[in-house]
Amino acid sequence: MFHIPVMKREVLELLIKDPKGLYVDCTIGTGGHTEEILKSRTNQDVTVIGIDRDGLALDIAKKRLKGYQKRLKLVQGNFRDLEKHLAGRKYDGFLLDLGISSLQLADSSRGFSYMEDGPIDMAMGEDGSSVREMLSGAGQEEISRILKEFGEEKRHRVIAKSIVRARDLEEIVRTGQLVKAVKEVIYPNKIYGTLSRVFQAFRIWANDELENLRVFLPQAVRLLNTGGRIAIISYHSLEDRIVKRFFVHEEKDCICPPDFPVCVCDKQAKLRIITRQPVLPAPSEIEENTRARSAKLRVAERI
Ligand SMILES: C[S@@+](CC[C@H](N)C(=O)[O-])C[C@H]1O[C@@H](n2cnc3c(N)ncnc32)[C@H](O)[C@@H]1O
Repeated sequence: MFHIPVMKREVLELLIKDPKGLYVDCTIGTGGHTEEILKSRTNQDVTVIGIDRDGLALDIAKKRLKGYQKRLKLVQGNFRDLEKHLAGRKYDGFLLDLGISSLQLADSSRGFSYMEDGPIDMAMGEDGSSVREMLSGAGQEEISRILKEFGEEKRHRVIAKSIVRARDLEEIVRTGQLVKAVKEVIYPNKIYGTLSRVFQAFRIWANDELENLRVFLPQAVRLLNTGGRIAIISYHSLEDRIVKRFFVHEEKDCICPPDFPVCVCDKQAKLRIITRQPVLPAPSEIEENTRARSAKLRVAERI
């Protein structure tokens, strides 16, 4: 089963400006967006470099895109090391489609889903940490902080307490045990929303997702050709806020306090924001693919 790429038409329209350009899909996953780019009739001379930290996803992308071998290069790695992977030249665009793929979610042996019982791991690639280790080592305060910060979960204290209580009886090694600990303190009518925030929080923590994004952004700007674009699809407000603030900051020419008579910061704008408001999927897309429901696409251009 392939992951269904979100807002593929919008990504194509807003990202690809040069029909002979070199683009980087920094979260190629199983290759949905990249396939769309490579097969488009106007992009027959476009080349794509695809990065993903998940080797299993890359294997699928490689098979799926074998007809485009000459215009595609795949790299296993973390997009936070962008300059290490791509040093030596400039690029015409970067695409980030954040979060996890349906492939990862559907594989219960990786522990991303609360719907099925499996070992509690949640590492996206070999470089991620395991939630199992964190849950056995972290104190109640730390667990509570992760739930609050990365899951924006209001009941973080109560849930952390229940997790620690369960862990004191038996090490938490399976998603089912975590689900049970959460169910013990949350009303049934709120349980699915809460579980999705709890699992999101641990996944973001285990894979250092927010820091990866923060570290990626300035590198992408440095590697862009003038006129090149960064397109980012995010699925929750924590990521969207980071992208929005970064774009706004990079669009400013001066960041001196307003009462300074002359500019002393020497800051120069590097980006022009293309999407003042984030682009959202059409209702028909959300109907066909519920995963698109929370997606927001932001695009900026190197000036
Ligand atoms: C939403 S999926 C991308 C799906 C893809 N656009 C498609 O159409 O098939 C996100 C992918 O990003 C990868 N990923 C997440 N964080 C990453 C990181 N820091 N570096 C590299 N890949 C990452 C995940 O492993 C996953 O395969």
